[in-house]
Amino acid sequence: MLDPDKIKSHLRTKRVGQKVVVYNSTASTNDVAAQYAKSKNNDGLVVLAEEQVKGRGRSGNKWVAGFADSVMCSILLTDCAVNAELLSLTIAVATAEAIGKCAKAEAKIKWPNDIILNNKKVAGILVESKKVNKLTAYIIGIGINCHQSKQDFPAELRKIATSIDIETGGQIDRISMTKRLLVSIESSLEIAEQNKDEIIERWQRLSTQLGQRVALIYNRRKFAGNCIGIDPENGLILQLDTGGIRMFQAAQTSIAKE
Ligand code: BTN
Repeated sequence: MLDPDKIKSHLRTKRVGQKVVVYNSTASTNDVAAQYAKSKNNDGLVVLAEEQVKGRGRSGNKWVAGFADSVMCSILLTDCAVNAELLSLTIAVATAEAIGKCAKAEAKIKWPNDIILNNKKVAGILVESKKVNKLTAYIIGIGINCHQSKQDFPAELRKIATSIDIETGGQIDRISMTKRLLVSIESSLEIAEQNKDEIIERWQRLSTQLGQRVALIYNRRKFAGNCIGIDPENGLILQLDTGGIRMFQAAQTSIAKE
C-alpha cells in the first residue's frame, strides 16, 4: 500500500511532497488536488490514490486502472514560475527519467503527454490549471502503470499499453517509484526555471517524434509534417507537408493516426 509516511521518509525534496495525502479510492486525484489550490501553503502537495472511479486522461478520455496497480498522483503547484508549455515538457522529461531509472531501461516521450517503454505507453500526464485570485495554479496528474499484466488492459489497448512489471519481468516498488518521481519533478522544475535549454535538450534526447513524421489534430483541424523541434513557449514544431513551419501548443493538440 502507498503509505504517506514511507513516501515522505528521507524524501530529498524541499517543495514537492512535503505534504502527501493518500486515498484508498477517490473520483480523480486531480480534482482532490484542485480543492487545495486556494492556499499557497499547499504548493507542492501530492495526492495519491490506490483507485480512481472517475480517472481522466487527455482529450476527454477515461483513465482506468485496477486497485493498487499504478502510481496515480496529482501534484499541486500554486506558485509556478514556468509557463504552461515548458511545464508540460518538464514534467514529461522528469517522469520519463524517473521511470527509466526505476525500470532500468530508457523511457521515452511521445509528445505531448505519453511516456513510452519499449514502444508501448507506460504512463500518461494530464496537466490542468485553475485560476485562484488572478494567479494560475497547476495540477499535474500522472498515471504510471506498475503491476498490470497484459490481460488487465482492454483488448484494444493490449498492443499499445504496458506496465513496468511487464517490461522488467519483476515487481516494481511503487513507493520507490513515487519518491523517484517527486525528486525528479522537483529538480527538473528548478532546472526549467533557470535554464530552459537544458529541458529542451533532455526532451530532444528522449523524444520518439523528433525527425519523424507526425500527424496531429489542432483545434479540430488535421496537420501532418516532419517534427523538427520543440519550442518552450509554442510547442511542437512541424515542417508541414503543405509547406511552411508551424508550432502547436500541447493544450490544443492531440496526436492523430495518419
Ligand atoms: C493521458 O494519458 O491521457 C493522461 C492520463 C493521466 C492520468 C492521471 S492518474 C492521476 C491523475 N488523476 C486523473 O484523473 N488523471 C491523472
